[in-house]
Amino acid sequence: MRIVEPESDRPHYPHHELAIFPTLAYAFTLEDTIDAGPILRRISELRSASTALTDEPDSAPWQFEWMSSTNLQTEPALAPLLSAATVCAESVLRKEGWEFESLEVTECWANVSSPGGSHRLHSHPNSLLSGVWFAAVPPGSGQLEFRDPRPSGWLRLDRQTTTAANAQVIGVDPQEGLLVVFPSWLPHSVATNRGNGERISVAFNLMPTGRIGFPTASFTR
Ligand SMILES: [Fe+2]
Repeated sequence: MRIVEPESDRPHYPHHELAIFPTLAYAFTLEDTIDAGPILRRISELRSASTALTDEPDSAPWQFEWMSSTNLQTEPALAPLLSAATVCAESVLRKEGWEFESLEVTECWANVSSPGGSHRLHSHPNSLLSGVWFAAVPPGSGQLEFRDPRPSGWLRLDRQTTTAANAQVIGVDPQEGLLVVFPSWLPHSVATNRGNGERISVAFNLMPTGRIGFPTASFTR
């Protein structure tokens, strides 16, 4: 909460902004923690061997995108990244005050976006928290964009200026080593790669394991 200061000579009545039901996403810097080299080499190997979901030529939004299979959580090369990411995600859930024992990566995949590639608006089903870690980010390769999920479109004024309160899309600039953790239900997309190189990221989904609240409620394998 912060006190809003007067910005004009109009009558001003001091007030507080109340962040009611904010949507929280988190950015972690793993640049000094995770060595991207082995991960990039493994992604390159997987891409060379892949025949699935690769550069589908007849589907325009996907034609410059390659996505691996979604079980990379079993890849040894990704273990340090996913271990750190799980610790990061657990820390934000505990800060938010949720009851759970532990988190587990249930799906993990790599994305390679060539120049011209983008990723359409979507959310992640069957998941509590999601994350994306940026391994290679050439200049101009596109923002990660989150879309306002609130049902306010039935009466939305035109914007005079864009602010955090009226933005419909909020973009995060990707950086190599950046990990973004967000609620899986939050709609997001990736802007067009307008750079000259490939943007490479690793995405994952997390679910709680063990007891999740009531004594009889639990997630188990
Ligand atoms: Fe996604």
